[in-house]
Amino acid sequence: MIVLKSQREIDRMRAACCIVAEVLDGLRALVRPGATTFDLEQFAAAKALKRNAKCAFRGYNNYPSSLCCSPNNQVVHGLPNKDLLKSGDILSLDFGVVYDGFYGDAAITVPVGDVSEVAKKLILTTEESLYAAIEMAVPGNRLGDISFAVQKHVESKGYSVVRDFVGHGIGRSLHEDPQIPNYGLPGKGVKLKPGMVLAIEPMINEKSHEVEVLNDNWTVVTCDGGLSAHFEHTVAITENGPEILTRIC
Ligand code: MF3
Ligand code: CO
Repeated sequence: MIVLKSQREIDRMRAACCIVAEVLDGLRALVRPGATTFDLEQFAAAKALKRNAKCAFRGYNNYPSSLCCSPNNQVVHGLPNKDLLKSGDILSLDFGVVYDGFYGDAAITVPVGDVSEVAKKLILTTEESLYAAIEMAVPGNRLGDISFAVQKHVESKGYSVVRDFVGHGIGRSLHEDPQIPNYGLPGKGVKLKPGMVLAIEPMINEKSHEVEVLNDNWTVVTCDGGLSAHFEHTVAITENGPEILTRIC
């Protein structure tokens, strides 16, 4: 069942999402060679606390951290640690909060120092695929139009869409219906309506789409060791088109 949100509820979600955007913006500025993902975790938790928001991920299915930090061949759900980031790494950061009863969820992938051309192109293509998907988030389109927009863009550049993890509806729960695969067929799936709020999150691999979960039961990595990138926005579908809620306000 897809829960539609009223304009007032979307206003409340915007407040939660704005905190997420502010935290990710701060994190982006902290990513550099010699920093650790543990530092980033601490920054995110402190900033959320300051905004009276609760970190959404800590304790969710027993996830042990507030922030997901997934470098290089890690796809999603990487755990913060005290390893030093080094020039040439790429780092995906996924963060969510609950504030005034509503969740916000977003992710970015950032280069650490100087990165390879393929790393730059993978990051750019993944972000572009998110915006291509968001453009399709208008009333009357179907869910498959969003999914297909990601897949088409990514595959045209020779990269692969992760299939084992998907985007999701979001609201009073972190994960609501519908599931949003990053591959699919245009014109298929549920019709999009004003009041739907979707966390659209392409997870894109440099090489094969295949992924596996490490023994920590969280960290998802590419099977072939290739790079992976991840971008996510929480987006409201309105009469006037898509509104990206995870923006600084
Ligand atoms: N953006 C991810 C998601 O929507 C983050 C979840 S991490 C978890 O599932 F720990 F909360 F599972
Ligand atoms: Co999400």
